Amino acid sequence: MPATVVVGTQWGDEGKGKVVDLLAKEVQCVVRYQGGHNAGHTLVVDGESFKLQLIPSGVLYPHLTPIIGNGVVVDPLVLLREMDMLTARGVDVSKLRVSANAHLILPYHQMLDVVFERHLGKNKLGTTKRGIGPAYADKASRVGLRVQDLFDEEIFRAKLEVVLHEKNPLLAKVYNKIGYEVDELVKIYVGECAPRLKKHMADTIDLVHNVLENDGQVLFEGAQATFLDLDHGTYPFVTSSNPTAGGACTGAGVGPRYIDRVVGVAKAYLTRVGAGPFPSELFDAVGEHLVDVGHEYGTNTGRRRRTGWVDAVMLRHAVRVNSLSEIALTKLDVLDQLDTVKICEAYDVNGVRHEKMPYHQSDFHDAKPIYKEMPGWKTDLSGFTKRGQLPQAALDYLDALEASIGVPIGLIGVGPGRNQIVHYNQAA
Ligand code: IMP
Repeated sequence: MPATVVVGTQWGDEGKGKVVDLLAKEVQCVVRYQGGHNAGHTLVVDGESFKLQLIPSGVLYPHLTPIIGNGVVVDPLVLLREMDMLTARGVDVSKLRVSANAHLILPYHQMLDVVFERHLGKNKLGTTKRGIGPAYADKASRVGLRVQDLFDEEIFRAKLEVVLHEKNPLLAKVYNKIGYEVDELVKIYVGECAPRLKKHMADTIDLVHNVLENDGQVLFEGAQATFLDLDHGTYPFVTSSNPTAGGACTGAGVGPRYIDRVVGVAKAYLTRVGAGPFPSELFDAVGEHLVDVGHEYGTNTGRRRRTGWVDAVMLRHAVRVNSLSEIALTKLDVLDQLDTVKICEAYDVNGVRHEKMPYHQSDFHDAKPIYKEMPGWKTDLSGFTKRGQLPQAALDYLDALEASIGVPIGLIGVGPGRNQIVHYNQAA
C-alpha cells in the first residue's frame, strides 16, 4: 500500500489528527498538502495534549519524516513558534522538511484577511483570520513569495517591492491601515527566520518519491475538509485550498496512481465553525450537549462550533469526490448519554426529496433534514476497543450509518486518547 490520504469529510475538526497519528505508525513520511495554520490538530499522547497547527501530526513519531508540502501556505513565525514549543516538550523536530515551493503567509496577508472580513460585516465568511485566503490569492495571481525566497535577500526584496506597491495603497486608501516597510520585513524574515529554517527547506517532491520508489509508505494528511474545499465545498463559505483527496496530488507532487487508500474522517455528529448553510444544525439542548460533551470549541481560535446531527447526504458526496475507501468515525462516545440518535438521510427541498447533495447553492440553503431516528445506547463506550463490546443499539446505529454512506467504517474513536479506538472492521 504505497500511499494513503486522510481527508476530512465534513466541515473540519473531525479528529483527523488522531487518525493520522494511528496510521503514521506504519509509514516513512507524513505530508501536509494544503492549508496553513488555520488548521488545529489536538493529539493526546500518554495523557499529554499537543496542539498543532502547521506541522504534520506524524511529528510525534521519531521514526518518520514530517513534511510540509508545496501546497501548504507557511507563516514562518508560526512555524518557528510551533517547532520551539515541540522542542521544549522534548519532541525532536530535526527531521521536519518544508517544501521550497510552499508559499509564505506574510503580515499583509493576515491584515487583509482581518480588514476584508470586517468590510463584509454581516456577510462575513468567518475565516480564521490567519491570512490564508489572501496568501492563496497571491499564489494564483503569481505575486506570492515562496519559502525558497527567504534565502535570497535580493529576490525576497524585489518580490516584496512589487507586492507592497499594490498592498500598501490598498491597506491605506481602502482600509485606513498603515502599510508595511520592505526593510522591516526583510529584517524579520530573511534576517531572523531564514537562518533557523535553512536546514529544514528541501525538495520535498524528491523526498516523497524516494520513499515511494523504495516501497516505503507515505501518508498524506489533509487539513480542513471536503465541504470547506474551494471547489467542492459550500462556496463561498470555504477555505482557499483543496483539502479533498485530489489536493494531495497537486499539494505534494504525486500522481493519483500512487494513492490506493483514502480514509475519510467523519465525526459521529456534525460541527461547523464560521458562517454558511448547515441543514442538520441543532439549536436545542441536544446541540448544547454536543458542544459541552464534545468540547466543541476551536483548537485554534477558541470559537464555539455550531453542532448538528451527522449528515449522510454530505458523507455520500464526500465518498464520491474523494474516492473514499473507508470511514474513520470519531467521537462516537459523545453520543453516549442521548436517549435517541439521528442520521440525516435525505433533504426536503421545497417539498422535493433529495438523496444527493443539491448542486445549486440555494437548494442547499433551503434543505430541511429528513432523519432516521434510533434509540441511544446509554452506555459509556470510552473504555471499549473491540466491536464485540459495543451495545446492540450502538451496533444498529453504526449499521444504519454504514448502509447509508455506502463504504465501510474501519475505525471508531471513543475518546481523545491515542488508544481509545475500536477496530470496527476486525471481528469480535
Ligand atoms: P480560512 O481557512 O481561515 O480562510 O477560513 C475559511 C472557512 O474555513 C471558515 O469558515 C473557517 O472557520 C473554516 N476553517 C478553516 N480552517 C478550519 C479548520 O481547521 N477547522 C474547521 N474550520 C476551518
